[in-house]
Amino acid sequence: MRLDKYMTAAGIASRKETAHYVRSGRITVNGIPAARADMQVDAAACICLDGIQVAFREVTYIMMNKPQGVVSATDDPTETTVIDLLPKQLQKLNLFPCGRLDKNTTGFVLLTTDGVLSHRILAPKRHVEKVYRFAVKYPLSNADITRLKDGVTLASDSYAEEWKTAPCKILLYEDCKSGEITLTEGKYHEIKRMMEAMHNQITALSRIAFAGILLDAALAPGEWRYLTAEEEETLQNAAK
Ligand code: URA
Repeated sequence: MRLDKYMTAAGIASRKETAHYVRSGRITVNGIPAARADMQVDAAACICLDGIQVAFREVTYIMMNKPQGVVSATDDPTETTVIDLLPKQLQKLNLFPCGRLDKNTTGFVLLTTDGVLSHRILAPKRHVEKVYRFAVKYPLSNADITRLKDGVTLASDSYAEEWKTAPCKILLYEDCKSGEITLTEGKYHEIKRMMEAMHNQITALSRIAFAGILLDAALAPGEWRYLTAEEEETLQNAAK
């Protein structure tokens, strides 16, 4: 396939833009600056724009470590979004976050172009697991943990009607003020509201796993990478 066609099909650059990038030495093919926009490349070639590999895929899956203060949205008139943190060429791909984290929650956000998979992963009946590391202001008692695990009834507020949270798993660390909580549903401010129902308060919240995939510890806040083939398989299985 011609390089310019590859770049267009990958949604990264038009043919004209590709020619411009080639002239400025910004595209490499297997580590060597591309000679011409119409040069032939094969599907297995490693093609980079500005040192970032261009993934030639029908669908794209990206793991991001969302920093605090960034919103899980595709665009926002005033706030920085998770999409704003991607390089310009990836911002053209119509990626969107699969599910949301609150603005001050950090951690694993899946960005994808795959609407079908996203819909399936988020469907309540699939009970896809999300694991969060949390810290609270006051120690949690055994009775609190039992109540949280069984499900707590949350009073109605401006966001939601009264509802009972689904049973969840909790691993409490030794300090009794932090731990890991695994949810299989994704209601608005769910963990914060669960802790408030215990007369407690979340002081830190970070998603460390999503749909059976662990957040890569090498990703600093704001960094991202493509899912590996193995992780993509895990995701597809979770969506079945
Ligand atoms: N529960 C919350 O309260 N906030 C999140 O961002 C995710 C789960």
